[in-house]
Amino acid sequence: MRIARSLAELRTLLPAFRQTPLCLVPTMGALHEGHGALVNRGKSEGGIVAVSIFVNPLQFGPTEDLERYPRTPEQDIDFLERRGADLLFLPKPGEMVPPDASITVNPGPVGSLYCGASRPGHFAGVLTIVLKLFHLFTPDIAIFGEKDRQQLFLISRMVRDLSLSVKVVGHPTVREGDGLALSSRNRYLSSDEREKAALFPRHLAEIRQRWQTSPPQTTPEVSSLQAELKTRLSREGFVVDYLAFVDPGTFHEVSLPLPRQVLLLAAVFLGKTRLIDNLMIDAG
Ligand code: PAJ
Repeated sequence: MRIARSLAELRTLLPAFRQTPLCLVPTMGALHEGHGALVNRGKSEGGIVAVSIFVNPLQFGPTEDLERYPRTPEQDIDFLERRGADLLFLPKPGEMVPPDASITVNPGPVGSLYCGASRPGHFAGVLTIVLKLFHLFTPDIAIFGEKDRQQLFLISRMVRDLSLSVKVVGHPTVREGDGLALSSRNRYLSSDEREKAALFPRHLAEIRQRWQTSPPQTTPEVSSLQAELKTRLSREGFVVDYLAFVDPGTFHEVSLPLPRQVLLLAAVFLGKTRLIDNLMIDAG
């Protein structure tokens, strides 16, 4: 695996990798099997797999965990070598985001909902850096996890609305044996919290089951499922940030007539750690 540690190095190295398809997997490092699955998915496309590791300051709010976000470059390099990635871009922060940078991508109205409501400016930061990576690599394919569904939706919208020529591929969420979605932030959990965290996806799955066996017929029935989920999670000690049943085609909360597929989106706090997850409900 070749490593580019600056924009200049990337520009020098890239031409040698200009085989098609060039697959890009953007990450913030502290790599785990969820990221690994995206690399494998890239490998299965049969071309070159490039990975970027950059803890993007633009997507962290002023009171968020930018400073303490885990940084494990040596382990990440080993991990990617073992996975068979071809190229790693590991830039220094100053070069990726000039100190007086002022131009950003506007994520539109969906960027202020759900995760965007709790993290103002987050999706502008994500889209700005992802667009920049798309310009730098001009990949044929870019792979993102379904764990961050709203992110995946907004990146797909950016590609469509700005006519970018990259194919965005979403990959299913990789989970621990007890159902907790893998996340770089799981390492913040104490061992008690880690045990409890598995109840989060379990309650989401139970509510999905309820929906699928007896689909709601009215908007109040949807609201009552949402209220029940909130009660269950609060009882377990989670502080609910948001819960929403959304149309995966628009990311707006569902209304009648209900779409055939409904996405259950959720974010909770367990202690100081924020966990997000989502499940697709087959409604019809
Ligand atoms: P990061 O949180 O490092 O995630 C990098 C990619 O891995 C994202 O596409 C994310 O959805 C995916 N991912 C994380 N956990 C996963 C899991 N358990 N299963 C499947 N995929 C998973 O998301 C970001 O970084 C940043 O916002 C980024 C897109 C790199 C822009 O800075």
